[in-house]
Amino acid sequence: MLICPTKSEIRTAVAGYRAAGETVGLVPTMGFLHEGHMELVRGARERADRVVVWIFVNPTQFENAGDLAAYPRDTERDLEMLRAEGVDAVYLPQPEEIYPEGAETIVETTRLANMLHGKVRPGHFRGVTTVVTKFFNIIQPDLAMFGEKDYQQLQVIRRMVRDLHMPIEIVGLPTVREADGLAMSSRNVRLTPEDRAAAVVLSRALDAAERLAASGTTLEELRDTITETIAAEPRAALKGLDVVAAESLEEIPGPLTGPTAIMLSVAFGEVLLIDQRVVTPKET
Ligand code: PAJ
Repeated sequence: MLICPTKSEIRTAVAGYRAAGETVGLVPTMGFLHEGHMELVRGARERADRVVVWIFVNPTQFENAGDLAAYPRDTERDLEMLRAEGVDAVYLPQPEEIYPEGAETIVETTRLANMLHGKVRPGHFRGVTTVVTKFFNIIQPDLAMFGEKDYQQLQVIRRMVRDLHMPIEIVGLPTVREADGLAMSSRNVRLTPEDRAAAVVLSRALDAAERLAASGTTLEELRDTITETIAAEPRAALKGLDVVAAESLEEIPGPLTGPTAIMLSVAFGEVLLIDQRVVTPKET
């Protein structure tokens, strides 16, 4: 496995793959890898000849310095996991290479970035689309893998690629979960043992919502069920609940119809966890 700390090294590696007529699948990450990331790596392996992973804790998508500083890191362990999975190359740049002195260009999906989770975290999605564009330009992959766990992020990236005519296929994969249903996340290690146990309430609330949707329900009933489930867990503070059309992320004006995304953000102390489910409600 090639470890590339600079842009020129990863570009040389990818140029070699291309010269041999091989396709390149990219897995963007901020490191501290878990089984959710590894599923994306396997997904890339199935779809492309070569798999490139980037590990970069992107400062521009954190709205506060404390959250950035607290983001967990363990590069040695990450590299071991990627090696075991047969990854071809890893790009591990320094922030100065990605954001050189005087950098001023940003990329933003103007509507999608500033709604829903984007309102809870102002500037977050602009940081994501800007850094993803930089990496797409550096690596120029044929396809890139993203998790449905960060559902709004996936839709933002799809929209950006479409709007800017980027010749890259975006592949979304389902959320990988712990045995009790908690969505895997690099942030989970920051939970106290008590909060970790309580955090199962996110997937429990989404399960309840999915059951309701399957038997036919209203928007109000769906929202009430989720709100009540979260409220019953005293350690959890509901920060965001959006029930929206699955692709446009627009509010649903009338009765629930068609694929519907339920997006949930819940805080446990300082730690904000997100989870989502796409349901197709039974017509009533
Ligand atoms: P990060 O949080 O490291 O996540 C990297 C990718 O792994 C994302 O596409 C995310 O949706 C996916 N992922 C995380 N947890 C998952 C799970 N439990 N199951 C399946 N996929 C999961 O998302 C980012 O980094 C950054 O915003 C990034 C895109 C790298 C830009 O900086």
